[in-house]
Amino acid sequence: MNRLSDFMLPPARSTFAGETDALFNFINIVSLILLVGITIAMIYFAIKYRRRSEDETTPLITHHAGLEITWSVIPLILVLIVFAWGFKGYMNHSTPPSDSYEIRVVGASWRWDFIYENGFVSTNELHVPKDRPVRLVMSSDDVIHSFFVPDYRVKRDVIPNRYTQIWFEATSSDTSQVFCTEYCGTAHSNMLAEVIVHEQSEFDDWLASAAAANDNMSPVELGEQLIGQQGCATCHSSDGSAGIGPTFQGLFGSERTMTDGSTVTADENYLRESMLEPATRVVEGYQPVMPTFAQLNDRQLDAIIEYLKTID
Ligand code: CUA
Repeated sequence: MNRLSDFMLPPARSTFAGETDALFNFINIVSLILLVGITIAMIYFAIKYRRRSEDETTPLITHHAGLEITWSVIPLILVLIVFAWGFKGYMNHSTPPSDSYEIRVVGASWRWDFIYENGFVSTNELHVPKDRPVRLVMSSDDVIHSFFVPDYRVKRDVIPNRYTQIWFEATSSDTSQVFCTEYCGTAHSNMLAEVIVHEQSEFDDWLASAAAANDNMSPVELGEQLIGQQGCATCHSSDGSAGIGPTFQGLFGSERTMTDGSTVTADENYLRESMLEPATRVVEGYQPVMPTFAQLNDRQLDAIIEYLKTID
């Protein structure tokens, strides 16, 4: 069973994985047995009852009650087993334990924000304690996204104007990948995050120090961190290479030509406007696809501008 799971499925790193994989393997093995059995029977009958001569006639057969009941009842039992097993798992997935640790998740084009009890916001990095149920309360800032961690066997849509929830309990300290599995626009395939699992005491330390470190950073340091966290680097390179958006290299102070033919100098005001109202002025040759970053506060906007000045 384990060999089969290893071959077909991602690593099993939550308490859900065992049950989910067992059902998956059960369905696969039963299907395989039926496929082989039916194929062999078909070939056997096709050969045994083939027409042997031109004037041979087929005897009249109406039905066989015993045979018909057998091939109806066996599949019925199999389907009921799969239903009961699947329903039990579904109920388990849908019912977070009351002592779950709660984290708010906000999906937005194109990043994941994880908001902790002390107000700390971690972008594209979900930190969780190991061997403890974690409940995610999720919503979207814009379109429908979907939160998927294959290693944990959890997936749920993240939608605007309504909360959805999932829960899991990580059983391994390995880092796992989060995908967005609902097509949500230009950078959908880059809407990735990581789950980083800590022992409980290590988790408490991380949460306390992450919040403190953020307050003590210099603007340039904070700006560099935000560029990574906010997903800016998904579309904007720092080395001059082309992306979905213009490169950051040499951006500050340069002359920019807009889609309407006007030119603008990339100063502090231009960069601020570009983050808050990206559709107002779009650089020639690019599409107006950048989402707004109106959720950033003044300190964060200043920090990003200071960091952009250093990329030349
Ligand atoms: Cu968000 Cu796809």
